[in-house]
Amino acid sequence: MSAKVGIGIVGSRFQADCIAASVRAMPEEMEVVAVASPTRGNAESFAKRHGIPKFYADHREMLRDPAVEMISITAPNRLHAQITLDAAKAGKHVVCEKPLCVTLEEADAMIDACRKAGVLLLYAEELFFAPKYVKAKQMADEGAFGRLHLVKQGEKHSGPHSDWFWDVDQSGGGALMDLGCHGIAFCWWFLGKQKIRSVYSQLSTQVNQARTKGDDEAITILEFENGAIGMVENSWNRPGGMDDTIEIFGDKGQTYADMLMGNALPTYSEVGFGYAVEKASSTKGWTYPVFEEHWNYGFPQEMRHFARCARGKETPISDGEAGRVVMEVLYAAYASAGLGKKISLPFRPKGIAKPIDLWKKPELAKVAL
Ligand SMILES: NC(=O)c1ccc[n+]([C@@H]2O[C@H](COP(=O)([O-])OP(=O)(O)OC[C@H]3O[C@@H](n4cnc5c(N)ncnc54)[C@H](O)[C@@H]3O)[C@@H](O)[C@H]2O)c1
Repeated sequence: MSAKVGIGIVGSRFQADCIAASVRAMPEEMEVVAVASPTRGNAESFAKRHGIPKFYADHREMLRDPAVEMISITAPNRLHAQITLDAAKAGKHVVCEKPLCVTLEEADAMIDACRKAGVLLLYAEELFFAPKYVKAKQMADEGAFGRLHLVKQGEKHSGPHSDWFWDVDQSGGGALMDLGCHGIAFCWWFLGKQKIRSVYSQLSTQVNQARTKGDDEAITILEFENGAIGMVENSWNRPGGMDDTIEIFGDKGQTYADMLMGNALPTYSEVGFGYAVEKASSTKGWTYPVFEEHWNYGFPQEMRHFARCARGKETPISDGEAGRVVMEVLYAAYASAGLGKKISLPFRPKGIAKPIDLWKKPELAKVAL
């Protein structure tokens, strides 16, 4: 076994680029040895771009490659479960992008298959590794803010880059499913992974009715076992680039962090330049270009942790169970929006095809209460 963990990436676009660059940033722990993507030309050009030795059109072919020890799934949400089951069967560790999958049954099957196969199922929630947010958590854990009673996380941008996100049959939901999964995981992690007592969510499609059946505005409130509150705000209607922030409140203090703007360079350019920040449509006039974007999100640190987990050097802080907690909250949030009331957990309706159905057809949620 090589000292470096051999990673095979499934997918070759947005998040695949991020993972390849993040792995390259931590060369002592891991390397990308292969990529699989259904459009052969895309897999090949991705491999060339990132200096990856092998490329495949089918992830199942890649799973037969002995150099691949761990896969990183950067394919659309609806494919996460099947790809994980295939990987478990082939004896490969799995790093799965958010959200873990589309249904709770899939989450159970993924966790079960990986456990039985003796491989790791790691849930790629990079906010657990974002340096600014880690610093906030260290201070909170030291007691800097006393007893925490409110933790807020918001992720907002102008809307996804690929069509499949807007098609709820492929994504499972809208902004809440796409971005809220980060905030739900964040609040849960920040408050010590305690039980969530209830979920309330207000969802609407304010701007993109012509483009999606999904929610493009979402406000979700989580009530934790010890009485603390988590608040998650998501939008697909905020032009000007990605907005990712937290606010932490306790009886002895508070902290605020803006992941990207706080690190950015307030910049004015009459002619524009190459790139400012994810989802910014222009670089002319006043902009806030970020530096070390992947590092500020925590992606390289996340992948290093996962590689070290594969070598038994660290214990996973984000695994399939974490992804399932988020999935259950997503179910409850969509059901809450459909029924217009708070949903108590546990909430595990069976046979739901995708979380957003619980909003659109509240009768599905009612039978599970
Ligand atoms: N952690 C984060 O912050 C973050 C950011 C972006 C995306 N994501 C997640 O990553 C996943 C991918 O999102 P993206 O933005 O890269 O989407 P994308 O549309 O940019 O890329 C999707 C990729 O999947 C490939 N694909 C489609 N069908 C496939 C199949 N059968 N087998 C293998 N590959 C297949 C496509 O060819 C494409 O390369 C999603 O689940 C998304 O939610 C996470």
